[in-house]
Amino acid sequence: MSDNQVLDAIHARRSVREFEDRDVPDEIIEKIIEAGTWAPSGLNNQPWRFIVVKKGEKKGALAKLTHYGHIIESAPVCILVFLDAKASYDRTKDIMAIGACNQNILLGAHSLGLGGVWLGEILKKKSDVKELLQAPASYELMAVLALGYPTQKKRTSSRKDARGVTFNP
Ligand SMILES: Cc1cc2nc3c(=O)[nH]c(=O)nc-3n(C[C@H](O)[C@H](O)[C@H](O)COP(=O)(O)O)c2cc1C
Repeated sequence: MSDNQVLDAIHARRSVREFEDRDVPDEIIEKIIEAGTWAPSGLNNQPWRFIVVKKGEKKGALAKLTHYGHIIESAPVCILVFLDAKASYDRTKDIMAIGACNQNILLGAHSLGLGGVWLGEILKKKSDVKELLQAPASYELMAVLALGYPTQKKRTSSRKDARGVTFNP
């Protein structure tokens, strides 16, 4: 632990794929989405849109659309993050902004004692997801963030060190 809370959170956050059977209050979900919306975006265009899927029929159907369905089944809430073509001004920059938004959501959740994982494999079925949730025509699925209270479990990960990924001309 350092005396820097932001760096501590960045280092301590892990992908969480197993959750307690405990609902996440709506105010907490809203707070987490708000953290997402404080991500930077080009021209501050805020191209992200969200659909929240909680326990129920739709979540069960969503789970069937990915190899990682067991994670969606276990998570009490999924935040689906879309790019809205109507708000888009530059596809690359908009997608990068949505990546920042997703990380804000994961870090926000972590800071509130929740955990979550960014699910990308489900994008193979993005049109089925859109149809299932009757999302507006201009929405394109970017990620499913499965969230909840983490089960007690040691979760580890590793990274290449900064020098190993920095090119020195
Ligand atoms: C774009 C993207 C797609 C991902 N897709 C999946 C996925 O479909 N299933 C899954 O279990 N984890 C997925 N992850 C989570 C990564 O596996 C995880 O972030 C990585 O292994 C590092 O672990 P950490 O998050 O605990 O540091 C994805 C992460 C990102 C950023």
